[in-house]
Parts: sequence; C-alpha cells; structure tokens
Amino acid sequence: MSLKGKKILLGITGSIAAYKIPILLRLLKKEGADVQVLLTPAACDFVTPLTLSALSQRPALVKGFNPENGSWNSHVEMGNWADMMIIAPVSANTLGKMAHGLADNLLVATYLAAKCPVYFAPAMDLDMYHHPSTQANIKLLQSFGNILIAPNEGELASGLCGAGRMEEPEAIVNVLAGSQKKKASLKGKTVLITAGPTYEAIDPVRFIGNHSTGQMGFALANEAVLRGASVILVAGPVQLKTPHPAIKRVDVTTAEEMNKAVNSVFKKADITLMAAAVADFTPVSAATEKIKKNKNAVPEIKLKPTTDILAGLGAVKRKSQILGGFALETQFEEKNALTKLKNKNLDFIVLNSLKEKGAGFGYPTNKVTIFQRNGKKRTFGLKLKEAVAVDIFDAIEQMM
Ligand code: CTP
Repeated sequence: MSLKGKKILLGITGSIAAYKIPILLRLLKKEGADVQVLLTPAACDFVTPLTLSALSQRPALVKGFNPENGSWNSHVEMGNWADMMIIAPVSANTLGKMAHGLADNLLVATYLAAKCPVYFAPAMDLDMYHHPSTQANIKLLQSFGNILIAPNEGELASGLCGAGRMEEPEAIVNVLAGSQKKKASLKGKTVLITAGPTYEAIDPVRFIGNHSTGQMGFALANEAVLRGASVILVAGPVQLKTPHPAIKRVDVTTAEEMNKAVNSVFKKADITLMAAAVADFTPVSAATEKIKKNKNAVPEIKLKPTTDILAGLGAVKRKSQILGGFALETQFEEKNALTKLKNKNLDFIVLNSLKEKGAGFGYPTNKVTIFQRNGKKRTFGLKLKEAVAVDIFDAIEQMM
C-alpha cells in the first residue's frame, strides 16, 4: 500500500470539521501510516486528544512544553521526522498564521520546521472562505509549495450553503496516497471519461433512463488522476461524490448534453473512455405538461435515435488519441464487442457481460475483457471496480 510505513504529521485546528478527523486518522492507520497528531488549543474544543491518542497509538500533542513533568515536544525533531504533513481542517486563523510565520503554538511551529510536503484542507464558513484575506493566504501557501486540498461546496455547519466544507476523509487519503505513487505515468496527459446513465425526458416528471450507477467511470477517473493525468469527468445523473478534488467534473442529464460536453473537450484529450450508458433513443419531443392517465387512450411515446457520441469521436479522432468504449452485452458478447470496436473506430473496447454474476450495473465489482484494435485480448477475473480501473489503465499505458 502506498502509505505503508509513511510518517505523517496530522495537524488539527479549531473548526467544526475536526469531528471528521478521527475517521481520517483511522483511514491513514489502515493504510499502514505512522501518524503523529498535533492539535491547536482551539481544536481541543472540537475533538479530544484522548480519542486521537488512542487511535494513533501516540500521544496527541497540543503544547511544546509540559510543565507537569518537564517534558519537551520538539517541533524541529517532528519537522525532520515526517514524510508528509497534512493540516485538516485548517481554520482561517491558522491559515493566516502559516502564511505569515506566526508560530504561537506547537502546530504552526512544527509547520514552519517541516521539511516535507505539506497539504492543507481548509474548512470554514463560505464568507470567511471567500474573504480576500483568506484567498490571499491560500495563494501565499501555494506559492510556498504547500498543496491545497480545496473545500467542497455544500451545506455548512452554519446552515449556509457554499464553498468551505472540508474535503471528505476518503478523498484526503486518496490525495496523500496518490502523491506516493512511484510513477506519475500519465503526467501531462489529459484523460476524458464519461460515466453514469443519461435521462431522456418524456414529460416534466418522467424520463427514459437505465440502471447505470456511474461507479465504473468514477473509479476510472480516480485511477487516471492518481497516475498524474489531468482528468475531465462528464457524468450523467448519479449519486456519487467526485472521488478526487483534482478531477474536473461536468454534470449533464441527457445524451445530447453529454454529446456537447464531450465534444467541447475531446480535441485536447489524449485518452478518452466512454464508460457512460448513453440512451440510444430519446422522445421526439418531451411533453411540456405532465401526461395525465387515461385508461382508454394509453399514450404512445415516439422515439428518435440519439447521437452515437463514441462513433462520432471515432470518426474525427487523431492517430495520437486513444479512444475506448464499453460494451454491455447479454448475448454473443465477443462478436458484438468486436463489431462495436470496428464500427466506432476504437482503439479498444471493454466488454462486460450482464450474464456474469457480480458484474455490471450496481455491483461494486466487475469482470471485463479488453479487446484491442490490433487483435489483442485480455481477460480478467471478477474484482472491485477500483481494481478493474487499474487493469484498464495498465492496458492503456501499454497501448501508448
Ligand atoms: N455510446 C455513445 N453514444 C450513444 C450510445 C452509446 O457514445 N448514443 C457509447 C457508450 O458509452 C459505450 C458504447 O458506446 O462506450 C456502447 O456501444 P453501443 O453501441 O451503445 O452499445 P449499445 O447501445 O448497447 O448497442 P446495442 O444496443 O446495439 O447493443
């Protein structure tokens, strides 16, 4: 595992998001990291050093000097010891101290002494976050080489809604683990992924859709970003959080919206993978009012084909671009997949069969076969979609 044996300083400051840090700490420990927790005095109002000491199996430290027994916690030693430091949540107050070198507590003193990469995940109310002083401090820290884990938009503890919500613990671990991957094998490459279903409106309340959850596409986007790519994820209507803060996500609803979103960025994509389950048909026109029930006259919905996005990309793709699609089949799997590979002018196609137990829509696992344009075929066993994403990107890298 990529964080195994890593020495991590975890700094916590006085923000309500501190309640999530025991979870973050558990995740880091699960990854095999050795974690030293540091708290500002204000952080202790939100989460206890006892909880953090128990979880980290090290005393969670607040002060440099302990007058009761005369012991001394050296910020310099800790700064030298660490492989990386993450300060989460970082309040507006601590951001300011870090940016201006005000070392009036153990956490900030250790930050100033640290020689390792430093990550910081702000959490505060949206007006505080948008204040020019906060934004200027963030920019200053970035100019020092510190790495921002940007807050999400969402409901805030104040009841307001907007930017300022600390990134979720799972995503923070992802960022830290990703930074440890030996090779940033896709650095400098742009990867375009589509995910999820599309919804085609019948009337204002009904639509034609499918059971795709988007999990496979999201796992692919995450894997690409962990390999150093700059990733654009075009997502249909799904219930998933963006797995990594560096992913640029574009939300769409219909096949036509997905077509537009994909085509607006396709030119700059080095690798494109259409994992979305795009509707093949859409109503000729959506009723403007809700269609009322009438037992004597069951409505007929006239359909027209949607644009085949993938085929459109295949028709215009440059030689240097790698283009792949998915084929979800229930019969004649290989033959159908190969037909799509050829007809859509793809470099590869990933086949998953709905007949395989545990594979396809809604399962956390998948079982795929990858067919390449050059006739090469790779078959894989049933595994978690995250692991399938690794296999797919390993295959893509070999094609490059
Ligand atoms: N796809 C697309 N645009 C569409 C439909 C599908 O880009 N309008 C993409 C999917 O994202 C997937 C691949 O094409 O990567 C699937 O091929 P497709 O021809 O859609 O398969 P099916 O629609 O399932 O074809 P059929 O119904 O004939 O099996």
